[in-house]
Amino acid sequence: MALPQKFLFVLCLVGLVFSQDMPYEEFLAQIQACPSECSCPQNFPRAVYCDNRGLKSIPRIPPYTWYLYMQNNMIETLPLDAVQNATQLRWVNLNRNKITDKGIEEDFLSAMTHLAHLYMDDNLLSSVPSPLPDSLEHLRLSRNRISKIPAGVFVGLEKLNLLDLQGNKLMDDAVTEVSLKGLNNLVQINLAKNQLSRMPLGLPPTTTQLYLDGNNIEKIPADYFKGLPKVAFLRLNHNKLGSSGVPKDVFNISSILDLQLSHNQMTEIPIIPSGLEHLHLDHNKITSVNGSNMCPVSVDSLDSAQNESVPRLQFLRLDGNEINPPIPRDVVMCFRLLRSIVI
Ligand SMILES: *[C@@H]1O[C@H](CO)[C@@H](O)[C@H](O)[C@H]1NC(C)=O
Ligand SMILES: *[C@@H]1O[C@H](CO)[C@@H](O)[C@H](O)[C@H]1NC(C)=O
Ligand SMILES: *[C@@H]1O[C@H](CO)[C@@H](O)[C@H](O)[C@H]1NC(C)=O
Ligand SMILES: *[C@@H]1O[C@H](CO)[C@@H](O)[C@H](O)[C@H]1NC(C)=O
Repeated sequence: MALPQKFLFVLCLVGLVFSQDMPYEEFLAQIQACPSECSCPQNFPRAVYCDNRGLKSIPRIPPYTWYLYMQNNMIETLPLDAVQNATQLRWVNLNRNKITDKGIEEDFLSAMTHLAHLYMDDNLLSSVPSPLPDSLEHLRLSRNRISKIPAGVFVGLEKLNLLDLQGNKLMDDAVTEVSLKGLNNLVQINLAKNQLSRMPLGLPPTTTQLYLDGNNIEKIPADYFKGLPKVAFLRLNHNKLGSSGVPKDVFNISSILDLQLSHNQMTEIPIIPSGLEHLHLDHNKITSVNGSNMCPVSVDSLDSAQNESVPRLQFLRLDGNEINPPIPRDVVMCFRLLRSIVI
């Protein structure tokens, strides 16, 4: 019995090596095609690691690669032949390179017909690259020099749910219905640290997380969120919003959970919807807090209230304003689920 057991043990080890459902011939082809500049772990044969190697060009990627790590190099160009055989790529990380618009060969990105995650943060792009593969789910392009979103670049990208464009040079006329057309399943969009002076147009009704921190936004149109019935996380920290540009009831949205308005010029507290859980209003110009005005329901009716009508606010920041303590008693009476308040 000793020999077959040993044999079984060896088989188990081999089984571990091929745990990614990879036929042996493919495994061999994959390992043999590993570029000398990169490393291709045998126990994770679908991954190819070429990160942090000072590479100036992208090597030929082995044919069965799913996960490609190319971040932290000095890559300037993306020639099509590098990925011509790697038709199964799912996940490509090209963060922190020197890629320009011109450096991307026409069909380099669209050739990756299974690509779900594309990361190109910290490069030298001045436009959202196009054409993109229809399979894309997450697209990260933060901290480039992007000032342009070509019209229709997202058309057909029915799976794209996360778009990160923070830290670019987008102005109002770049973010429009025409440029965002096709983002039918977008959930999160990050436009923080751009040069927007108004709320972006053309966002799809699926938008749940909208990040606009660090722009120059001065006002919000009264009906802006009518077209965004799912907005739950809204960040507008570090803008130029004053109470005159913010209709008092503009944030009274039933879907909203987290509202961040730190470092603006608000003088009044906007209407707080019942369902809101986190509110950041620190570092504004608010001078007074009136609990009965702030409360989404009447404080009297709360005494006998059922739990579902109790406002959901748990976290409130009001520090960096011109409010004198103590916290009015009716604030605490109203927001019974409040766990933390900073004044
Ligand atoms: C693609 O794969 C074939 C066969 O495996 C090989 O001969 C060829 O050199 C590869 N082409 C590229 C561009 O890597
Ligand atoms: C906020 O919206 C709710 C319905 O979503 C409405 O019942 C309530 O009156 C509004 N609050 C204010 C102060 O306008
Ligand atoms: C809060 O506002 C209400 C209604 O505007 C007012 O009647 C009440 O006196 C105010 N409370 C304080 C403490 O100023
Ligand atoms: C309200 O919630 C508390 C605990 O969260 C529970 O003990 C109480 O029974 C609830 N009351 C009603 C009316 O649902």
